[in-house]
Amino acid sequence: MSTAYLELTARCIVAGDKGILAADETPETLTRRFLARGIESTPDSRRAYRQMLFTTPGISPYIGGVILQDETIRQSSDAGIPLPRLLADQGIVPGIKVDLGAKALAGCPGERVTEGLDGLRARLEEYSGMGARFAKWRAVLLIGDGLPSTKCVRANAHALARYAATCQEVGMVPIVEPEVLMDGAHSMERCEEVTGQVLQVVFDELASQQVELEGMLLKPNMVVAGTASAAQPAPEAVAAATLRCLRRHVPPAVPGVVFLSGGQDALSATLHLSLINQGREVKPWTLTFSYGRALQDEALIAWSGHEESVAAAQRAFLHRAGCEAAAAQGRYAPEMETAASAA
Ligand code: 13P
Repeated sequence: MSTAYLELTARCIVAGDKGILAADETPETLTRRFLARGIESTPDSRRAYRQMLFTTPGISPYIGGVILQDETIRQSSDAGIPLPRLLADQGIVPGIKVDLGAKALAGCPGERVTEGLDGLRARLEEYSGMGARFAKWRAVLLIGDGLPSTKCVRANAHALARYAATCQEVGMVPIVEPEVLMDGAHSMERCEEVTGQVLQVVFDELASQQVELEGMLLKPNMVVAGTASAAQPAPEAVAAATLRCLRRHVPPAVPGVVFLSGGQDALSATLHLSLINQGREVKPWTLTFSYGRALQDEALIAWSGHEESVAAAQRAFLHRAGCEAAAAQGRYAPEMETAASAA
């Protein structure tokens, strides 16, 4: 597929500082989140939840793409409209998670490699026929004593690059997601070091597989301290470290960097994104969000599985998405939260 088409699609997803809703939790993961709130998890309750999000009135100025999951891309709205079409009709680009999850990596205790290259081309072709225009593959890297190992970083980067090249060949934009996890007691400095090393190897592998950088999106973690670290840096320090790391390791040909939230609470993820965008350094990429938990948590709590709570949940989702889109322009202020609750 031509680079021009892929680049246009990638730029379309993040145009106008819109971001991505990551709604690609597997049934197992969504079941865990539902059960934590006492919500029954069935294919239909998961469908109802996704429908609630996707039919939120007024969402399309903020959300340029939605990442679906195998179960969801095959489901339809109450009115019988396939969910990917429901999104496309609002000008929101449907995408699809195509990896098969992180599995134990031989010879690397405690580390995982993301699987799913077998049969990938056929899966991509099927999803493309269902309307998906971009894909996502997530690798996870754990910081620890001597971790991540070089072997693990290289194995995951190689798989990411093979996936990205295959996506481009079937005309889908790959989202390349190497996630350095927040789990652990490491410092922000250590996260910056590891994130930089990982990005360097990922772009090396992408070059080896001749991936067109113009036709992909990068989905990295922000540079933060581990969740168990006693020293939590100021939001301004997180923003500065994240931007420095990206400027050192991400080529300017990449059109967009779409951050994951990775377990940050919604307000931190929003503030960090806004401060990153306020950085005065040259930023050759669109810097926006591809959040799962940070975008959905408030809406999920408001919904709680009740039909009569759909409107309240949609208000919560619209508010959060509006704040994220403001953050993608560097215009978010924490007062936007209280202004909304007073309204
Ligand atoms: P979080 O924002 O919840 O980390 O999810 C984003 C995602 O897609 C992880 O793969």
